[in-house]
Amino acid sequence: MTSVGIDAMEIWTGKLVLDLPNTFAPVKGEDPEKYTKGLGLHTSSFPDVYEDIVTMGANAAKKLMDRKGLTPADIGRIDVATESAFDNSKPVSTYIAGCLEQVYDGDFRHANKGERKFACIAGTQSLDDAYNWIKAGRNRGRAALVIATDTALYERGDPGEATQGAGAVAMLIDEDPDLVELSTEQGYGSMDETDFLKPNQQFPSVDGKRSMQVYLARMREALEDYESVAGRTHPDLFEYIPFHTPFPGMVRKAALLGFRHMTRDTDIEDDLEAEIGRQPREADFETWDDYEEAIRGYMDELKTTEQYRDWYGRVIEPTLDISSRVGNWYTGSVHIARLSALIAAADEGKEMTGKQLLVGSYGSGAQAEIHAETVQETWLDEIEAVDVDDQLAARTEISFDDYELIHDVHNHEKEIEVEEFTQPEAEFVFTGWGRMNERR
Ligand code: CAA
Repeated sequence: MTSVGIDAMEIWTGKLVLDLPNTFAPVKGEDPEKYTKGLGLHTSSFPDVYEDIVTMGANAAKKLMDRKGLTPADIGRIDVATESAFDNSKPVSTYIAGCLEQVYDGDFRHANKGERKFACIAGTQSLDDAYNWIKAGRNRGRAALVIATDTALYERGDPGEATQGAGAVAMLIDEDPDLVELSTEQGYGSMDETDFLKPNQQFPSVDGKRSMQVYLARMREALEDYESVAGRTHPDLFEYIPFHTPFPGMVRKAALLGFRHMTRDTDIEDDLEAEIGRQPREADFETWDDYEEAIRGYMDELKTTEQYRDWYGRVIEPTLDISSRVGNWYTGSVHIARLSALIAAADEGKEMTGKQLLVGSYGSGAQAEIHAETVQETWLDEIEAVDVDDQLAARTEISFDDYELIHDVHNHEKEIEVEEFTQPEAEFVFTGWGRMNERR
């Protein structure tokens, strides 16, 4: 059967940028290194006054369609993944389709549109839905557009304020993809959790520390489930492992957990035995708590080893670059982690054709999914066409006072007039909730 996967990607960053260690931390009375070293964040993107999830999603999709020479007739499905939706009935994909129809000949009348919600994992779930739709032969030769778009804003004063961000990722899912083929095997870890939620409210209610534990627990379960269908994993099988990245510091924890899991009963565990002993085995402990404590002790030692540091530097670190410069993009976050890795590979001149990625997606509430992807022969052309550095460099820096204004502008409960910080250039702009956005 024909291969299916991501044919191309584009991003659209919020046009404003906030310097976290130098602008945000001092006003908050915090050590800048909490951001750079602890959370792993340097700057974050914010939407200008005229940007929202619709404009950012439509602008990313237009870039993608133009680059691939597509018209609406080529697209049979538009799914938008977001956890920043403003309409409980009409899906964001219809708003985005409306924008795109202003600039292309033809319309999306015969395309299936929807909106996927499961916190940050919804981007990957939309990818899976598009994959299944094509594999089932329902696409009639057409491709699917998956758009992950979010304004990840927290209540002012919430610890999550440090990890905000805004941007969109557009992905074209098609047969014989040019970028990565998705594997059929997936693993899930899923449980009813209430550490991060937005019941009819714009800003999330978050138990930050608990949310980190839930992320790790579900990711471990997803890895075990993945191994039950795909066979044992080994760190050397994957060139990169892009994880959902709410902030890079979270991925440092997930990576250590993954490495520990993947190395048990392997040559790497044998190599490490003299230095740090073998991994604790559950059967050797009377209680789960004792076992967990022993595992934590083992992991503290594991992270200091040459083997782990070398693997982390090669397989994980390159996935974190964009995230460290844009903050959390919620549904788009794991997809910019994949993009970061492939850009790093291109910059290093690495040959990636046929190489495997293991993608770890996560959404609060909570669910993790692990799947593998195979990089395609034409990957380099696709990656070289994406202008991440140019977009990030073109952002306009804001002061702390500007940040507070922008936060208020995007607060659905406030109605304040603030002048635009930048001028839109041939792009979609926000004209009001529930209204057709314009192109200026
Ligand atoms: N130098 C170096 N490191 C420092 C430091 C300094 N001066 N000061 C603090 N740090 C380190 C801390 O030790 C900590 O690292 P460890 O976790 O490894 O110990 C890190 O910087 C963060 O510091 P704090 O724990 O003190 O930060 P905080 O109390 O302000 O909260 C947070 C951090 C809980 C992540 C908070 O930002 C938050 O609630 N974020 C939103 C929720 C979130 O992102 N959860 C992630 C999992 S859920 C998910 O993934 C879904 C999603 O997208 C939201």
